[in-house]
This record gives sequence, C-alpha cells and structure tokens, in this order.
Amino acid sequence: MRIDIITLFPEICRAPLSESIMKRAQENGALELRIHNLRDWTTDKHHVVDDAPFGGGQGMVMKPEPIFAAVESLRRPNSVTILMTPQGKRFDQTLANEMSKQQHLVVLCGHYEGIDHRVVEHLANAEISIGDYVLTNGAIAAVVFVDAVVRLIPGVLGDDQSAIDDSFRGGLLEAPQYTRPAEFRGWTVPKVLLSGNHAQIAAWRKEKAVRRTRENRPDLLK
Ligand code: ADE
Repeated sequence: MRIDIITLFPEICRAPLSESIMKRAQENGALELRIHNLRDWTTDKHHVVDDAPFGGGQGMVMKPEPIFAAVESLRRPNSVTILMTPQGKRFDQTLANEMSKQQHLVVLCGHYEGIDHRVVEHLANAEISIGDYVLTNGAIAAVVFVDAVVRLIPGVLGDDQSAIDDSFRGGLLEAPQYTRPAEFRGWTVPKVLLSGNHAQIAAWRKEKAVRRTRENRPDLLK
C-alpha cells in the first residue's frame, strides 16, 4: 500500500511512523509512506496556508488552493483521499479493516479552526475522526489512523493471527493475558492458564472477555 500524508507538521508524523512495526512494513515493501509539507504547494512568497473565516468568527481556516494542488499532484485513479477532522465519521476497527484493503491513501491533516469546506465537498472521499475529542492537530490523528490501518495489511504483523485475535473483531474486548513469573508479589496467575487444557483455557478466556467488555464497554454488547 502507498500512503501520502499531507500536513503542516511533517515531523509530528515522521518519528512515530518510522519505528518498530511501521519501520519494518516500509523496509519489507508492504508500505510506501510519504510525508509531505502542505506549504510546498503554496505559490506566494510567505507560503500562506490559512485565512480568516468568511462570515466572521474566531481562528483561521485552511485555504483550499494548496490543498487541492497537493492532492491533485499526488492522487492516482485508484486513490482514496481522507480528511482527518473531529467532524468526521468515527474511526473504528471495521473502518481500519476496510481502509487496509485500499491501494493508495492520501491523508489530509486539518489544523486551525477548520478547513475550507470545498475540500470536503469536492476533494476528500471521506472525513474521519479518531474519537470524540479535539486534538490540536490532525497530524496526530493521521498517525493513529495510519498505524491502525497498516498493521492490518497482510504480512505486516509477524504472526497473522495476532490481527485476527484483536479486540473488537469478535465484538468483544480481549481476555486478560499473563506471563512469567507465575507468582508476583503474592498475586498468582489463574490456574487454568497453567493447566495445558486448551478447551478450558478457551472457555475461561471467553468468559473473561465477556466480563471485561461488560465492565469497560457495555455499548459493544448491545
Ligand atoms: N483533528 C483534531 N481532532 C481530531 C480528531 N478527533 N480526529 C481527527 N482529526 C482531528
């Protein structure tokens, strides 16, 4: 998959997407990631990317011209252009899975009070929010989005099974996990996990997953 991120703050995206699994995905060719500075598509001397909102109000609005120029120079016929914005559709594992099947994503990061709405109407294919809170910067949201999508590309995770076992896939959160030592500060690991009885372990995990989901995310059980 190819991903192009367009942002005013490339450095915010660079470090988190060049470590660990994201680094390996790029080294082994599963991901071709390009992080661009939107200012590279301005044509004026001062590289202006924002202006005051029509109709008045606080803050600045991102201008359409450099955004259209950037996306139009990067996209291809099979590209999907995503705008990161708190006004978007809420991102979840299902959407991450859909996106992981695309060949090319162009990810636009908002900033300031907002973005000229002609970008939404005539350029972006979807608006995505990573959650019901407002960040200072869409670049942070883009990192979350890209990480969640890329790890689902076949071959990116060492063990393909680990993406299948993820929380949310079965509509339940994951069951608790333990590792050595079997006793730590007097707290022992549940005996069933040491039993070697795979049927009992599976039943225990199912029960714990249901309980954890009921406690932390009752909305998922509805
Ligand atoms: N930009 C600011 N907040 C955001 C959010 N929650 N999701 C996506 N982009 C954002």
